[in-house]
Amino acid sequence: MAPNHAPTALISPELYDLWAHSDCYHCSFLLKPDPVLDAVMENTKAKGVESEQAVSPAQGKFMHLLMLSMGAKHVLEVGSLGGYSAIWMARALPDNGKVIALELEELHAKLIEENVANAGLSSKVKVIVGDALESMQRMDPDPAAPFDFVFIDADKKNNVNYFVQAKRLLRKGGVIMVDNFGRRGRLVDPDNHEPSIEGTRNLLRHIKDDPEVEAVTVHTVGEKGYDGFLFAVRK
Ligand code: DHB
Ligand code: MG
Repeated sequence: MAPNHAPTALISPELYDLWAHSDCYHCSFLLKPDPVLDAVMENTKAKGVESEQAVSPAQGKFMHLLMLSMGAKHVLEVGSLGGYSAIWMARALPDNGKVIALELEELHAKLIEENVANAGLSSKVKVIVGDALESMQRMDPDPAAPFDFVFIDADKKNNVNYFVQAKRLLRKGGVIMVDNFGRRGRLVDPDNHEPSIEGTRNLLRHIKDDPEVEAVTVHTVGEKGYDGFLFAVRK
């Protein structure tokens, strides 16, 4: 499809309200009250960290169920912010499972460790502070324990670099999921050249010619507006 308009401007506030309301309605049946995760979000907000960038409760539970259905044991998270999604995933792992969380900011890393400890999951989440790309480049694929799942949710301009490294560290049949692939339609706005949008477009272009993965974008609406996940399986 040839993009020929600026779609973001077409989304009315009423539509956002409807998506959030519908999300809430479904969650009222399918998500149990979760004081631990509520406290994680409160703590994240209180520390001034961009809590609105965390995945929604429904998206977190989706990731949790994905880990359960895959029988995932070794998970890599690129960009962890306050650790909200890391906690959702860690809860689904067996006793010897682990989430390795890569986080640039020292302040965020401390917060993740605090939140993870409050969730009783310190033994299942390890935070590595520093430039995530450098951390990934330093990692060797572990033949005894390759990653089953990689979640990329960091600076979008590096999406291709993260994806290439994730693929190197992932087992065959493993999954790479990348957050923020719908971005309110901003990818199809021809006037939008933000580095984060270009970084996301670049990953689509890269995957188009990548024989090592099969991938699809699943668009989402809900509490977080209109966005999407890229879902890729390593062949
Ligand atoms: C932004 C980043 C995210 O990872 C997200 O989920 C939502 C927004 C942002 O940079 O604005
Ligand atoms: Mg995100």
